[in-house]
Amino acid sequence: MKRDSFGSRFGALVAMAGSAVGLGNLWRFPYLVGENGGAAFIIIYILLSFIICLPIFVSEFVLGRRSQKNAYAAFRDLSGGSAWKYVGLMTVIVPLVVASYYSVIGGWSFEYLFKACTFSFNGSQASMSSMFTDFVSSPWAPLICHTIFLLTTCLIVVVGIKDGIEKFSKVMMPLLFFIVIAIAIYSVCLPGAKAGLDYLFNPDFSKIDGKAIAAALGQAFFSLSLGFGTILTYASYVDKKENALFQSTATAVSDLMFALIAGMAIMPAVFAFGLNPQSGPGLVFETLPFVFGQMPAGGFIAILFFVALLVAALTSSISMIEVAVAYLMEEKKFSRIGACAALFALCWTVGTMCSLSFGPLSDFTIGGRTIFDFFDNLSSNILMTLGSLLTVIFVGWRLKKTDVYDEFTNGGSLSTNVKVFGVLWFLIRYICPLAIIFIFVYGLVA
Ligand code: PHE
Repeated sequence: MKRDSFGSRFGALVAMAGSAVGLGNLWRFPYLVGENGGAAFIIIYILLSFIICLPIFVSEFVLGRRSQKNAYAAFRDLSGGSAWKYVGLMTVIVPLVVASYYSVIGGWSFEYLFKACTFSFNGSQASMSSMFTDFVSSPWAPLICHTIFLLTTCLIVVVGIKDGIEKFSKVMMPLLFFIVIAIAIYSVCLPGAKAGLDYLFNPDFSKIDGKAIAAALGQAFFSLSLGFGTILTYASYVDKKENALFQSTATAVSDLMFALIAGMAIMPAVFAFGLNPQSGPGLVFETLPFVFGQMPAGGFIAILFFVALLVAALTSSISMIEVAVAYLMEEKKFSRIGACAALFALCWTVGTMCSLSFGPLSDFTIGGRTIFDFFDNLSSNILMTLGSLLTVIFVGWRLKKTDVYDEFTNGGSLSTNVKVFGVLWFLIRYICPLAIIFIFVYGLVA
């Protein structure tokens, strides 16, 4: 049977950008920027994104497109069947863990879109907070939302690459950018918005320490979906004629732009109403609903915002599920529908435990963390860094330089890629692995 693939350059691009742009951009990035020195953090983030993360992105791209296989088989076949295949297996399993808890938050976005549509954000700040706490700690409502979100994800993936993932991303990604740009314009025009822009963009280099640099790198990995096998898998569906450097750079640039615009959509509004930003769920599900309740036309902006959040989460979660779908179909001879059903069952079960850890299971901890925090920390702090590190080492030290060159330059036919290959190879072989190890250890010690 012929392997499914992306139908066009734009389709491949929006699918990759869809994977990259997600909850990480909308709630984590703006907060991290403010916490860690504003523009100073952004500068470090940009440097790390392009010097460290772009070469890793290209490495995953090369592995995927060279092998035209799922992540496990890519590592297995390109290493001549050695134990590297277990690294491939790891990059198949980790996104499933992430998909499980990601879909819990995706479910919250769904609920909040519903709340926005019924204009429920008109109480005091305290009542918005208790609305959120009551919702997440109740046993049933979040589970139903988690189920709907995961089901939607699997229903898109089951249709396939060209007709499912690509078509969905082609419609949703432009919509997503459009919505966030519109909210950002509205937000920076609010009286008192300047404080929010200062929070984001005033450089404060005194806040840059080992911890801030580690946070910037971790955020760049997560935001670009690196170390999870997703970029590798998507790249395996990209046509051999496409340009690896162009696709990778375009994804990284869109992801960065989106994060900055999201910051400009959220922070000025938060500050215009004299509030302080919190991190993560608190910002998006407690502070923002209160802000929406206060601002002119806020009911409408709230609907737009939660549509954006839901879409951003969906285009990322489909990329996580596809990694294992490709594996099950190619290695275990599942049908696409069978693979999706099995993965739905698995992620639903793990996600349910994560969801319950905000309520009935909140006392159950692993190493002092709730189930949700445990999985989040394990996958996005530790396994993701490990996955990225092993991927660059594999490409830089195990693959033949001539093969990487051939894949990166399309057989020597792309003149810019030929010119930059020397620099890229140096980054992949030396700078990336050393920097990842150094920053990771430094972050732990700090
Ligand atoms: N990049 C996504 C985000 O920013 C998260 C993600 C991680 C997606 C890993 C796919 C794989 O939210």
